Amino acid sequence: MIRIALTKVLPAEFKTKPAPGTPLGFGKIFSDHMFLMDYDEQKGWHHSRIEPYHSFSLDPATLVLHYGQEIFEGLKAYRWQNGEIYLFRPRMNYERLNRSARRLCMPEMNVEDALEATRELVRLEKDWVPSEPGTSLYIRPNMIASEVALGVHVSAKFLFYIIVGPVGAYYPQGFNPVDIFVTEKYSRTAVGGLGEAKTLANYAASLLAQKEAQQLGYTQVLWLDAVERQYIEEVGTSNIFFYIGDELITPSLTGTILAGITRDSVIHVARDWGLKVSGRRISLEEVITAIKHGTLKEVFGAGTAAVISPVGKLTCRGETYPVNNGKVGPLAQRLYDYLIGIQYGKVRDPYGWVEKVC
Ligand SMILES: Cc1ncc(COP(=O)(O)O)c(C=O)c1O
Repeated sequence: MIRIALTKVLPAEFKTKPAPGTPLGFGKIFSDHMFLMDYDEQKGWHHSRIEPYHSFSLDPATLVLHYGQEIFEGLKAYRWQNGEIYLFRPRMNYERLNRSARRLCMPEMNVEDALEATRELVRLEKDWVPSEPGTSLYIRPNMIASEVALGVHVSAKFLFYIIVGPVGAYYPQGFNPVDIFVTEKYSRTAVGGLGEAKTLANYAASLLAQKEAQQLGYTQVLWLDAVERQYIEEVGTSNIFFYIGDELITPSLTGTILAGITRDSVIHVARDWGLKVSGRRISLEEVITAIKHGTLKEVFGAGTAAVISPVGKLTCRGETYPVNNGKVGPLAQRLYDYLIGIQYGKVRDPYGWVEKVC
């Protein structure tokens, strides 16, 4: 069992919490405390502690700043109407962090310890968990190479930390379909690369495509495979689903795609609802043919941030194709309502996905 040393912020130094009703946005506000833990080859993971939230002072030669040995996670704590606070499938985040760690030659963590650290921090920061509909406490675990040395090599030292902060409802104005640009110019990752790891390089690789798509008026980029530029991989930083005929299709996990927890939840739920769900390769050609034949019913992204993000239009090779007349489809709406319902305790959770923190 992890033992966590606690250094609390003095009451006079507590940050001012946003007043109820203030738009929270995403990733701009952080709570009073953070969790930290160090790793070196002799001691393994040690010195678990919660401290006042603070900046780091890093030597300019710290390895993470040069060669990008970094991995992270993203999950949320939800406040239910009765005031209790819950996490949604948090174990999967730390299992995925360990898979990312293996790919990046970083030390794995004891999942139970990481979960306990998360719960302890959320319990301490419970007053930071907002209560307006759709809001939550975003939790960002992060691991960085902290050895001070130049030269490309696996770091001998690492720092793991968790920060948390309140975030707003993703759809304050309701659930609106987004316009997607299919990029054939850029790749996010390739087979044998880092795509299935949650690591900084994948996000850096996505920025230019995202910027160019936004300049053209699109919300997000649809990524194709790097070799044939035919097979669909992900949308923005979400997994993607296509509802064609009676089949719900999502690209299979071939090493280039992040194994999303929302993706896994959608697959489970849709199968339980009797839908035929396939994790398989799906080409752009297949999607365009389905649009032309009128069999493409819905397209939506799935991820922790928005849960479900319906796609209203797809633009590729100079042609724009509306999806479900630019409207939210009934399956996307039903999945969204159901998953949000479980996360916020409004729908009974038959899967044991939500875990009470306090
Ligand atoms: C690249 C990428 N794909 C997919 C997802 C969706 O994963 P999850 O449902 O676990 O949030 C994310 C978000 O974490 C992501 O960054």
